[in-house]
Amino acid sequence: MDSGGNGLLGRIQLRVGRLPKGLQAHIYRVMDIAQELAQRHGMDPERASLGMLAHDVARAMSVEELTRRATELGLPIGVVESRVPILLHGPVGAEILCREDGLDDDPLYRAVYWHSTGHPSLDALGKLVFLADKLDPQKISYYPYIPLLRELALEDLDRALLEFLTRETVARVSNGDLVHPASYEMLNSLVAASMAAGSKPGSC
Ligand SMILES: [Fe+2]
Ligand SMILES: [Fe+2]
Repeated sequence: MDSGGNGLLGRIQLRVGRLPKGLQAHIYRVMDIAQELAQRHGMDPERASLGMLAHDVARAMSVEELTRRATELGLPIGVVESRVPILLHGPVGAEILCREDGLDDDPLYRAVYWHSTGHPSLDALGKLVFLADKLDPQKISYYPYIPLLRELALEDLDRALLEFLTRETVARVSNGDLVHPASYEMLNSLVAASMAAGSKPGSC
């Protein structure tokens, strides 16, 4: 694995080794899923692994620490992050890797930063990291449609993202929950791309 340099990989591995065992187990499960997706889509398996290894480096921080670190780092804290501060673990993790571990790789930075909410700027690596994280079999109680999502992700990352974001947005709005603007922007960008490709169901 040489993406970002062995020094970066070693530093991320050290961070992961200090995380709670349950979180480490999640990271290693989603690394396996990312490998499968990378192979299927002809992507670099080492970058996929690095993305998964890096994505939750800040996940074990308390919400108080996440909020404090985000404020110190000058990260935006919008209405959704104010109400759901755990969403800051992607942005805080990305900034820590950048400032302390020498991460100098914009797609990887974005993949970590946006792995909870999604964002329209995500490239294939970012989409893969986002989806592999959701496909952890232990998240089945949150996402009972994981088997369908996995099949879609193996076929087409964008189709899987469209399915996930549509389901989650509908559920959140129906429940009176908040929808992160970056998730909505990503959903809109996927719908627009689908329309442009003429693949919107019901279109001629
Ligand atoms: Fe996460
Ligand atoms: Fe995760």
